[in-house]
Amino acid sequence: MKRGSIILYKSLLNSFLCFIIFSWSYSSKAQNNRDDKPVNLKVLPSNISENELRQLMDSYSTALGVHCNFCHGNPNDKGIGKTDFGADANPKKNVAREMIKLVNGINTNMLQGARALDAGIGSVSCVSCHHGSASIDLLEDVLFRTYKKKGLDSTISRYNNLKKQYYGSFTYDFSNRALLSFASKVNETGNFDDAITIGKKNCELFPDYTWSFVFIADIYSKNGKKDEAVKNYEKAIQLDPNNRYASQQLRKLQSSTN
Ligand code: HEC
Ligand code: HEC
Repeated sequence: MKRGSIILYKSLLNSFLCFIIFSWSYSSKAQNNRDDKPVNLKVLPSNISENELRQLMDSYSTALGVHCNFCHGNPNDKGIGKTDFGADANPKKNVAREMIKLVNGINTNMLQGARALDAGIGSVSCVSCHHGSASIDLLEDVLFRTYKKKGLDSTISRYNNLKKQYYGSFTYDFSNRALLSFASKVNETGNFDDAITIGKKNCELFPDYTWSFVFIADIYSKNGKKDEAVKNYEKAIQLDPNNRYASQQLRKLQSSTN
């Protein structure tokens, strides 16, 4: 109990110190920029207050899950003590400028028609697309890209690592849908064994989800493995007796040969 509160106290102290150091290095940097005024704004309003600018920058960092130097200065340097925020050396800053214009364009022009229909329509912001990541790829796209480069084993460990890092956050969808969607992409490349292995992993992770069993059964069926197909359609029907697709496929299979 006592030990727990010391640890808690230490971690609070650490966060507090980080906050102080961060705020100090930020404001001492800002003071280098003559009168704290931004010197190189090309898309944001030139009369933006220091507070508004800071909040906006924090929101970009959170939306993309990055630190300031992803767009400013040296991306490998997490500290911002030496960062010249007015410089344009980091090409991501210009990409971000295009993104700011895109978001402004969507909100001021493109959404007008929709707003005319429904007063409740909100605004698009960086987080609407980025969900805490610089890339906007879905989990299945990330996995498929890894699969094409490095094969199945590496992809499964990538999945496990991403899950450790992101589960419960808003970046990737770890529901019963993602692995199956990845498995379908693999199936389309003709690597049936790999597609089945992924399908089976989804069955293990979500034993009540009917469509993983249907997915596996379909592949077995197409590849002439009737017994395996029947077993998996039956499992799907056992989980969901109203699954008409599985029942139809099972009937077709049972009447086809014999
Ligand atoms: C996703 C990219 C991105 C991230 C992350 C980001 N910024 Fe920026 N920042 C920009 C862009 C783009 C501009 C220039 C806007 C313009 O041209 O109107 C800018 C401008 C600034 C300026 C004004 C510089 C000047 O003198 O013109 C400051 C200060 C600043 N950022 C601080 C920060 C801080 C501090 C962080 C981290 C909390 C941060 N930024 C994170 C993209 C980013
Ligand atoms: C309509 C969707 C959408 C919105 C809104 C959006 N972005 Fe993007 N952004 C993208 C796409 C698509 C890419 C290309 C990503 C990829 O390669 O996966 C991208 C890429 C980027 C990159 C380059 C990332 C990299 O790894 O090189 C930056 C920086 C960026 N966006 C910043 C922003 C900022 C800042 C905002 C808010 C002002 C924003 N984006 C809003 C769709 C969006």
